[in-house]
Amino acid sequence: MSTLIRNRDFLSAKNGKLFIEKVSSKDLAKKFGTPLYVYSENRIRENARRVKKVLVKYIPHHELFYAIKANNNLSVLSILRKEGLGADAAGNWEIQLAKKAGFPREKILYSGVFHSDEDLRNGLKAGVAVNVDSLSAAKRLLKFGKPPIFSMRVNPGISGGKIKGLVFAGNDAKFGENLKNAIIAFQLAKKAGVKKFGLHMMTGSCVLDAKYFPAATAKLLEFAAEIRRKFGVQFEFIDIGGGLGIPYQPNEKILDLEKSIAATAKVFMTGVKRFSLGNPKLMLEPGRYLVADAGILLTQVQTIKKAAKTFVGVDVGMQTLLRPALYGAYHEILLANNLNAKANQKASVVGPICENTDQLAKDRLLPKLAEKDLLAILDVGAYGFGMASNYNTREKPAEVLVNGNKAELIRTREGLTEIIGKQKIPKHLR
Ligand code: LLP
Repeated sequence: MSTLIRNRDFLSAKNGKLFIEKVSSKDLAKKFGTPLYVYSENRIRENARRVKKVLVKYIPHHELFYAIKANNNLSVLSILRKEGLGADAAGNWEIQLAKKAGFPREKILYSGVFHSDEDLRNGLKAGVAVNVDSLSAAKRLLKFGKPPIFSMRVNPGISGGKIKGLVFAGNDAKFGENLKNAIIAFQLAKKAGVKKFGLHMMTGSCVLDAKYFPAATAKLLEFAAEIRRKFGVQFEFIDIGGGLGIPYQPNEKILDLEKSIAATAKVFMTGVKRFSLGNPKLMLEPGRYLVADAGILLTQVQTIKKAAKTFVGVDVGMQTLLRPALYGAYHEILLANNLNAKANQKASVVGPICENTDQLAKDRLLPKLAEKDLLAILDVGAYGFGMASNYNTREKPAEVLVNGNKAELIRTREGLTEIIGKQKIPKHLR
């Protein structure tokens, strides 16, 4: 097996060809076409169970939610619902998706940012716990009604993660409230008759440093202590957000999940006791960790251009996978039809979009590639399809779920309806 497939047991090589669970990538590409998002059901389940096991071991009173924005496919949501998780929704349609996938409303948290009045009303109408991220939203929410649980996202000042665009706390971050305003918000909620409360943060994404989570939790508990001291608010949950990272690059270390959760649990349980916080659940709502490495994007080489550099043009572009163009994010790329080929030349893998940022890999050491080769882009299960667009008037790809030797289409490729079906031409222009 290629060393590039390390830690990803659901991927294997048979006669040098890539298999996803027991299905050949070549057969998938032939049957469903490319570009194609493929997810391994068993990998998603394994990821969820790995987190759950550690939580059960160290924090008996916990809750594990899944951040839908990472991958909103209904089949992915259904797998995680069946694994016993709750759902973290970023907006009304994500609340509706969660309900459609069978999550009960007590297992849905609505934590958008910069809510409109309509957002807040939708949250109330759905009957789910609402997590606001500003004093303004708190005031408007309480004017419209009372959520079953009022929760607030705070900005504890520290953040983690190595991608610049993925820093969600500190003075430059638009997320969360400061302690002063959070205190006012909880006071208002209590006055308005809200009975149940939650406290939330989401400070960074793709964090691989095990020490980060206990440190951030300690900060959040200081907020909790202050709010508790002022108003006697008992928190149902203290939510430390998502952020658990995965190693995208071959030289990156994996996050030591057990070490991190064990240390977080210690900080949490000591703090809860010390600050007399009652018996809140420690809540976690990862997205990436659960689904990222379970997703593979299959793409076919279309054009090879030998210019000042070698450009390998594939049928995936920034409209299919935005992360490289947006964050300079790294994704491993395998030659799916010949995993044994040695990486012996540098090339840039580029898409069909009219932007020079449409480069999936720049000057990457890869095997010699030829037109019609099948490539597999790894770790695309999170923030892959969800960030896809129709830019350059291109359709979004299909999605397939693999389980053992079964492969099922779980979202059809877009077509004419999505591209022009919703447009209208005023009479005078016809
Ligand atoms: N909870 C909330 C409120 C969030 O906003 C997010 C992600 C999560 C949980 C899950 O975070 P995770 O465990 O996946 O780090 N587009 C970027 C990631 C943006 C994350 C936004 N919020 C990417 O492609 O890496």
